[in-house]
Amino acid sequence: MQKDILSKDNSKYLFDNLTKITNIITGTYFSLEEISNIAEQVNKINELKKENDALILAHYYCSPKILFGVADFCGDSYALAKKAKEAKQKNIIFCGVTFMAETAKILNPNKKVILPPMTAGCSLANGITVDEVLALRKQYPNAKTLCYINSSAEVKAVCDTCVTSGNVFKIVENTKQDQIIFVPDLYMAKNIEFYLKNKGIKKEIIAAGATCCVHDKFTLTQLKEIKAKCPEAKIISHPECLPEVCTNSDFVGSTAGMLKFVKESSAKTFAVFSEWGLINMLEAQNPEKTFLSCGRICASMKRNNLDNIENTLKNLKDLQGVTLNEDLIQKAKQAIDNMFKETENDR
Ligand code: 13P
Ligand code: SF4
Repeated sequence: MQKDILSKDNSKYLFDNLTKITNIITGTYFSLEEISNIAEQVNKINELKKENDALILAHYYCSPKILFGVADFCGDSYALAKKAKEAKQKNIIFCGVTFMAETAKILNPNKKVILPPMTAGCSLANGITVDEVLALRKQYPNAKTLCYINSSAEVKAVCDTCVTSGNVFKIVENTKQDQIIFVPDLYMAKNIEFYLKNKGIKKEIIAAGATCCVHDKFTLTQLKEIKAKCPEAKIISHPECLPEVCTNSDFVGSTAGMLKFVKESSAKTFAVFSEWGLINMLEAQNPEKTFLSCGRICASMKRNNLDNIENTLKNLKDLQGVTLNEDLIQKAKQAIDNMFKETENDR
């Protein structure tokens, strides 16, 4: 799917994909006039990107204008972290939320990393403090401490291993300790418990934190209504959803996992319990399949737009970007490096 959109003219790629996003029910639809206006700004941004030696990384929840217009790489948190680590360009423009830009800086500290909206929070990353993690570590000295990547650099620095939605179940399964402290996603912690129970693995999960203010809104009632109206629809959910939603879904996985599941599935209709940007990507990649209208919006992700990307590129020299002190970078990097090691070992 990924294309080298640093090439001279991206308009065709943009046009081909935006015209496939035709979710008339929600009004997510791009007219030809709109696409040509977008293309003008997109071409300007792609020129500025080359002039300024910048790489644009974008999470799947960003607007399709970003995903198909200016992003050099779109991915889930894991793939984006890997790309940031390998980036050769002097500047990384990270279209996502704060914890993602921080992760990029931790993995490639000599680059200037900029989040176009400057700040864009995440209810999970904001939902746990360093003191809370340290208190749990004191209370459970034999436990392994895992933090979801949706956490601050400071929290990562006091945890053993970082996880993403794409590797969390495997990393937990392979953990030797009987007790695991898991922060900050309370629903993901419950989903881990169900996963372990199904596999007959006994471990105690000690959870603290919050929930994702986007995914915690999907309900079992909504899921049952969809199943009743459209029994052939496959329900696919992100593991940040409520446990009763996940246990009643046909597939639970990361954003990249959901894209793979839909691509490989012979089913024709899907209800996606995740963010609209991902559903737009699914529509573009699978024009022959139908996606029921049930997405939600992550307001923080949607704060990334073509205007603030263009302004960032125009003012790069004056922008400081993400700053983290050296000691914090080293400590937080340890947890992320452990994640890469534990994920690669499993392959
Ligand atoms: P993914 O790593 O699955 O893309 O999830 C990131 C996220 O913030 C989901 O809400
Ligand atoms: Fe955070 Fe939820 Fe937005 Fe993902 S969708 S960035 S978890 S608030």
